[in-house]
Amino acid sequence: MSHEKVETNIGLMMVLIILVISIGGLIEIVPLFFLKNTTEPVSGLMPYNSLQLAGRDVYVKEGCFGCHSQMIRPFRAETERYGHYSLAGEFVYDRPFQWGSKRTGPDLHRVGGRYGDEWHRLHLTNPRLVVPESNMPGYPWLAEKFIDGELVATKMRALRLLNTPYSDSDIANAPASVEGKTEMDALIAYLQVLGTHVSMRR
Ligand code: HEC
Repeated sequence: MSHEKVETNIGLMMVLIILVISIGGLIEIVPLFFLKNTTEPVSGLMPYNSLQLAGRDVYVKEGCFGCHSQMIRPFRAETERYGHYSLAGEFVYDRPFQWGSKRTGPDLHRVGGRYGDEWHRLHLTNPRLVVPESNMPGYPWLAEKFIDGELVATKMRALRLLNTPYSDSDIANAPASVEGKTEMDALIAYLQVLGTHVSMRR
């Protein structure tokens, strides 16, 4: 009888459905907030330095995540190709993380150190120079735009409010350390550090 009441009253049914789904969701999600391996950095993880941080914003600005994920799943086919699967504790300084879900190109989580800086410079200018069959677009303009050092320092101050452990001197030195660097330099510095903090590569 009470069941009939629910089934004939769509408003009540909606409220109850939302209630049930919320409880289910909370039970799945809330415990993660208290699991150390999802909230604490893996050992050896460093926050992005000023140039890498600037490069990360170039990555976001240019929408690289539209074709590249940064999330290696724990399956044989993935770890054989890309290296050790991604660990939650590797992303604690990523705000927001760049996991993505679209793989028009390969996953980039462990691309750091796989190629030299010059390879990346050619590849970003025109991917066909190093990978003839590539259909990735080129980004030649990145080599002409300079990084704004004051802006990087401001971003570091903001991230410090969110507990990224930047020291006063990291922030004070930021403008000098990105002086004269282009968006291309910054993006390459970022790509070269990706996934390198964990020593369990391949
Ligand atoms: C339209 C889709 C697309 C976009 C957007 C794109 N890429 Fe790619 N990317 C690819 C494809 C496809 C490949 C594989 C062929 C190649 O190596 O060029 C690739 C390869 C790469 C590789 C080599 C990875 C490896 O393991 O060999 C890097 C590094 C890379 N992309 C970085 C970037 C960056 C940085 C951006 C943003 C500035 C970007 N990509 C934007 C499609 C894309």
